[in-house]
Amino acid sequence: MIRSLKYYSVLALSVCLSLPAWAQQENPVKKVGNISDVQISDQKVLLSTDNGINAEITAYSPSVIRVRMSEQPLAEDFSYAVVAAPQQIKVNITQNDQQLSIQTDSLQARVQKNPFSIAFYTPDGRLINQDEQGLTTSWIGEEVTTYKKMQEGERFIGLGEKTGGLDRRGNAYTNWNTDAFGYSTGQDPLYTTIPFFIGIHSGLNYGIFLDNTYRSNFNFGASNNRFSSFGAEGGEMDYYFIYHTKLADIITSYTALTGRMPMPPLWSLGYQQNRYSYYPETEVMRIAQTLREKKIPADGITLDIHYMDAYKLFTWNTERFPDPLQMNKKLEDMGFKTTIIVDPGIKVEEGYAAYESGLKEDIFLKYPDGQNYAGQVWPGWTHFPDFTSEKGRAWWREQVKLFADQGIDGIWNDMNEIATWGQTMPGNVLFDYDGHLTTHKEGRNVYGLQMTRASYNGAREAMNKRPFLLTRAGYAGMQRYTAKWTGDNRSEDSHMLLGIRLLNSLGVSGVSFTGMDIGGFTGNPSVGLYARWIQLGAFTPYFRNHTGVNTKSSEPWAYGEEVTEIARNFINLRYRLLPYLYSSFYESTQTGQPVMRTLAIDYTHEPLVYSSDYQNQYFFGEAFMVAPFESTTSFGKIYFPKGKWYELFTGTVEQGGQEKILQLSYNRLPVYVKESSIIPMQSLIQSTAEMPTDTLIIHVYQGSVANQFVYYEDDGESFDHEKGEFYKRVISYDPRKKAISFGEAEGSFKSKFNHIKLVLHGFGDGGRWRLNGKSASPKSSFVSFIDPISRFDPQGVSNPIEGYNVKSIVIRNENGRFSLTY
Ligand code: NOJ
Repeated sequence: MIRSLKYYSVLALSVCLSLPAWAQQENPVKKVGNISDVQISDQKVLLSTDNGINAEITAYSPSVIRVRMSEQPLAEDFSYAVVAAPQQIKVNITQNDQQLSIQTDSLQARVQKNPFSIAFYTPDGRLINQDEQGLTTSWIGEEVTTYKKMQEGERFIGLGEKTGGLDRRGNAYTNWNTDAFGYSTGQDPLYTTIPFFIGIHSGLNYGIFLDNTYRSNFNFGASNNRFSSFGAEGGEMDYYFIYHTKLADIITSYTALTGRMPMPPLWSLGYQQNRYSYYPETEVMRIAQTLREKKIPADGITLDIHYMDAYKLFTWNTERFPDPLQMNKKLEDMGFKTTIIVDPGIKVEEGYAAYESGLKEDIFLKYPDGQNYAGQVWPGWTHFPDFTSEKGRAWWREQVKLFADQGIDGIWNDMNEIATWGQTMPGNVLFDYDGHLTTHKEGRNVYGLQMTRASYNGAREAMNKRPFLLTRAGYAGMQRYTAKWTGDNRSEDSHMLLGIRLLNSLGVSGVSFTGMDIGGFTGNPSVGLYARWIQLGAFTPYFRNHTGVNTKSSEPWAYGEEVTEIARNFINLRYRLLPYLYSSFYESTQTGQPVMRTLAIDYTHEPLVYSSDYQNQYFFGEAFMVAPFESTTSFGKIYFPKGKWYELFTGTVEQGGQEKILQLSYNRLPVYVKESSIIPMQSLIQSTAEMPTDTLIIHVYQGSVANQFVYYEDDGESFDHEKGEFYKRVISYDPRKKAISFGEAEGSFKSKFNHIKLVLHGFGDGGRWRLNGKSASPKSSFVSFIDPISRFDPQGVSNPIEGYNVKSIVIRNENGRFSLTY
């Protein structure tokens, strides 16, 4: 039947009228579609959709489910971040026409088939997280994004080195490793990419790790009230969903996936003195000697770029440093370790050994036509080793061996975003990506991680002891090789506080060994700011004073006598706390719990923790709650979560569950000890090369909850602890039974402490106690505990413990067993 043109026109018109305008055109957003095929194998489900999407859902462990999606067939499984294979676990996978269920003992994924969308539930059926029904996962060109329904009251923390508040709700972030000189407190992105965050709502918490190294974007309800989303500008949607009832366990699972830090050398927990740059050698020695003369404990000196000849890597400026080995030996004899800066760029210069050998070994990043890429940085035009190739890393490992021969103990990896004078490397530069050839777009964010991998492994082999590694750029998993500092901050109060949040956020995101430039890198701090910052620095994992090239001196004596005294007091305290701190680092190597912890880890569902007034408060290890404030304020508001809190320096008790206004003084950082804490300390030393006295002082703070502290010790420098040469024992406090006990010593290392001095805080007259099951009644042998700030206490309190019933019990430690001699 022949129909008239008019008929078709009318038909077309009526179709047009019945569909909205946007639906008449091809949708530029490609949706995931409906599931058309399902294959179940063991712990895994393979899916495909009517829109040509391929997906895989894997029960990775009881608490972790991995989701992959791609427009292409799924690629070979390869990751720079994830080091854990799926566990063999019990999984129950069922399906009907509408949905699929993947159920482990701790988590259930329910997958809707039309359209393909995922929701995660607790074993008792509470909704943890679900795809936004209308948006699910989609593609705009190469860019893939997963949209999650924003839950009532949902908060977001983590994402590593990100500016802004503790709670990231209402903000969007990008991951693209960037050289961010003098960054502002709201700038994004900075140096490091960690696409891992934790969502919190309705008494529940979950983690999502997007393992994709392209530029990635996260939206936590920024400019929308509908969804949170995460995605990347290329590659697969590949994320790990983690659920635990306790937030701390999410960090443990995340670091089980991406790895944990190895035990650092003990000296790297001491105070480190830096500037850009100490030279010549006489200046380096002057700094070291002054630290010793002024009795300011320190362990590290760092050499910045001026040690090199014309900024050429693996060279020395021999006029400034005629004999590096001798200098480093002299420093070593004085109890100092040297850390040296390295940048990735190798100067293009004929006859320069590293350049020539790099060319010969063919390890530089290249354009697609095979020509080496050159970009400009300190030495001028440079080539960059391809750290994403085993060949490139092997070459670098050989180069860094040179440092071991010269008595260097630490390698500071800088400018590895990659920095080329504020310019972005062209997108068509190729990266080997360990046999998965790709472009700068996918390679950039892992470049820093792979550089630290090469530096760590080279140094480890050559030094034959634990090297210290520091980096500016990195990717998820960087904690396996390196500590991380937050780059070129500013000498401003807001930066000091931002720095605290950056370190707390890095801690939530698996990176425990972190620090910031104490005093600020650009500009000059006021006297008050410097004093406050150095006090805070003593309560950060990596304690380093560093400043820029054109700034005023920033050593602890550069701000007058009084500040020198404050700095010394807090550095002293840091050194006396080393047994506690070293054990806290050990905990981190075992569980991934950060040394510096936002209150959100332990008090996840207390809304005040996230308020702008209290978001900077944090724990240093398990025991100390630190409240940082601007140096310019005389009063500050603090939040005491439930429990009982002891002011560290006076012992004043504060009841938890309250907000309080504190009067601040510039010589006393507000630090509180949590009730029931157990804190091992030692006598003062000037560097970790010195032995403390053989008495370990253990402070126990009375409380209503039972507590345990894992005390850990080893030789602090070798890898023998990996073969069991450590000394570990669990110290327990049980308030109900009035008992303190020391578990059996584990490991074959002989502790450097022969005596224990137990210092009980807040116990009244002590009464009768049970120590390791034996009844004990301590005599009042008062312990003189020198307050690090007592000389500046406004009330002139000379013994801050006065007024508190502090009793000591000396227990002899014979052959690793404690016998009582009180
Ligand atoms: C940039 C680093 O962030 C800074 O700490 C260092 O001092 C300079 N590069 C010079 O090496």
